[in-house]
Amino acid sequence: MLINPQEMPKVAVDEMNEVHSTEVEILNKLYEKILEFENDSSKFDEVVKLFDEFLNDVIQHFSFEQNMMEETNFFAYSMHRGEHDRVLFELKSLEKMLKEKNDVKTLKEYLVYNFKPWIINHVKTMDTVTAMYLSNFL
Ligand SMILES: [Fe+2]
Ligand SMILES: [Fe+2]
Repeated sequence: MLINPQEMPKVAVDEMNEVHSTEVEILNKLYEKILEFENDSSKFDEVVKLFDEFLNDVIQHFSFEQNMMEETNFFAYSMHRGEHDRVLFELKSLEKMLKEKNDVKTLKEYLVYNFKPWIINHVKTMDTVTAMYLSNFL
């Protein structure tokens, strides 16, 4: 397991918590598959499949929050969106390295040393403030 579900902070909007817990589930599945791949390189295609699932989920997660922020004219929208865009850009570079160079090692290191601490911190800070604001409209 890369992220224990209990490590994910809870925010004031339930739908956001649900989106986050689904994402952690998919991320953990991807991570387990990467560990399997390390002992059995025939698992490469399954790593790619789960990476695609993870990337799609991240795209939906971010646009779900962005739509709510837009609809409610959230004051820090551009800052929050900037963080989402930066991480999506990084994930798309990793997608290229994975699919064109079969580079699973860089993906694993990114997930462990960048994505994991980033998502926990992001939910604790930007998502928390955003959810507090959004909860006034629900
Ligand atoms: Fe989020
Ligand atoms: Fe966010």
